[in-house]
Amino acid sequence: MRAHEAGALHGSLGTRGPDWLATPDDINALYRPLWPATVHRGDDGALRVGGVSVEELAREFGTPAYIFDEDDFRDRCRDFRTAFAGADVFYAAKAFCAKAVLRIAADEGLCVDVCTGGELAVALAAGVDPSRIKVHGNNKSVAELRRALRAGVGWIVVDSFEEIARLTDLARELAVRPRVMVRVTVGVEAHTHEFIATAHEDQKFGFSLGSGKAFEAAARILREDVLELAGLHSHIGSQIFDTSGFEISARRVLGLQEQLRQEFGVEPPEVDLGGGFGIAYTTQDDPATPGDLAARLLKIVEQECAIRSLAVPHLSIEPGRALVGPAMFTLYEVGTVKDVDGIRTYVSVDGGMSDNIRTALYDASYSATLANRASDAGPMLARVVGKHCEAGDIVVKDEFLPADVRPGDLLAVPGTGAYCRSMASNYNHVPRPPVVAVSGGTARVIVRRETEDDLLALDVG
Ligand code: LLP
Repeated sequence: MRAHEAGALHGSLGTRGPDWLATPDDINALYRPLWPATVHRGDDGALRVGGVSVEELAREFGTPAYIFDEDDFRDRCRDFRTAFAGADVFYAAKAFCAKAVLRIAADEGLCVDVCTGGELAVALAAGVDPSRIKVHGNNKSVAELRRALRAGVGWIVVDSFEEIARLTDLARELAVRPRVMVRVTVGVEAHTHEFIATAHEDQKFGFSLGSGKAFEAAARILREDVLELAGLHSHIGSQIFDTSGFEISARRVLGLQEQLRQEFGVEPPEVDLGGGFGIAYTTQDDPATPGDLAARLLKIVEQECAIRSLAVPHLSIEPGRALVGPAMFTLYEVGTVKDVDGIRTYVSVDGGMSDNIRTALYDASYSATLANRASDAGPMLARVVGKHCEAGDIVVKDEFLPADVRPGDLLAVPGTGAYCRSMASNYNHVPRPPVVAVSGGTARVIVRRETEDDLLALDVG
């Protein structure tokens, strides 16, 4: 076992050492940043969420299931709104896109960011006010752009010169004047996995600042009277703990703002600093609060504007993971427990890489806890694996579980609200799990479980 295995994606805060080096003091304890706010152990030792025991949830809805703590999600939306008062907070729907969740976000005063026609369709079906929807994507089709314009979305974030041309044609065709933002690649090396870093030069997103293409894109938009330059946009990556990347990005975007004023005498009114705020996946992670993030980002923007004599633009941010990630956990049932002598114990659950691809794809670390009971057995080093026909089908690489974990037990894996259901697949024809929302002692399905019939219905051959 290698030390760095447990440290992947932990940003700069991995100061407590990998989980497996120290025996946890209390195998039944819950590390709060990992869990939705209402989760606690009941008197019988079983986890309860939103006033409902996980045993009841498993009985009623089956396993695996994503369990969504609605009140926790609302609180996170409110915390971001309060901390970033005066700015717009967008929920990045790619993290988890379902009507019920988008409705709650909108209800809590958030705007919504979408990056495909499919996500736009969900937002519209959820009744989100189109003027509060921002549309992203590095390769939006003409059909997607047309639909967004017809719906009357609030912003389109352009990502290529081809898109500016398409948008110009469509704006003329539909006689509308879309509000456009320029996605700027600021050249920041964010400290995160390379697949989820998006602001270094060598990648597909945005217009590079360094080469002058971002300036050129803004200039073209300013020259098209059918387009309105609403502002500049930067998103440096995802699961980032070190705020210095956001600070550099803000400085550079405001540098472009100054350049536009010098050349054209205009200061685009808005700046969007994107999402990417890191969350806890293991006990090593200690994420910043929305208050901390806001204090640092707002200070940088104000200072930088003062230095450059710019008006402070209207700011927005687009958190996805930080809003919905910790609001959910996945509930699995243990099927087998296999001791591989002298190495570790493999605990197989009834899901796997089809409901959480992040461990395999990004070498992400997760944690797990025995959910249906407390145990006074000693700790055993376990690897939680799925049921797929693939050796890399790992849910949690290394975790201490009580040594008496047995088939029929329930395991809960926290932090699975973002990029788990939204990246789920049907590998091995495993139907995707439901999402069950819990609040005030009641549970309701917000995304139903897929069935084998659903899968067979697609197979028309
Ligand atoms: N805004 C833009 C323009 C984005 O591209 C993203 C994420 C976000 C906001 C939201 O980022 P968040 O706050 O959720 O980190 N599948 C990967 C993450 C990909 C993120 C893509 N863009 C993962 O599972 O880690």
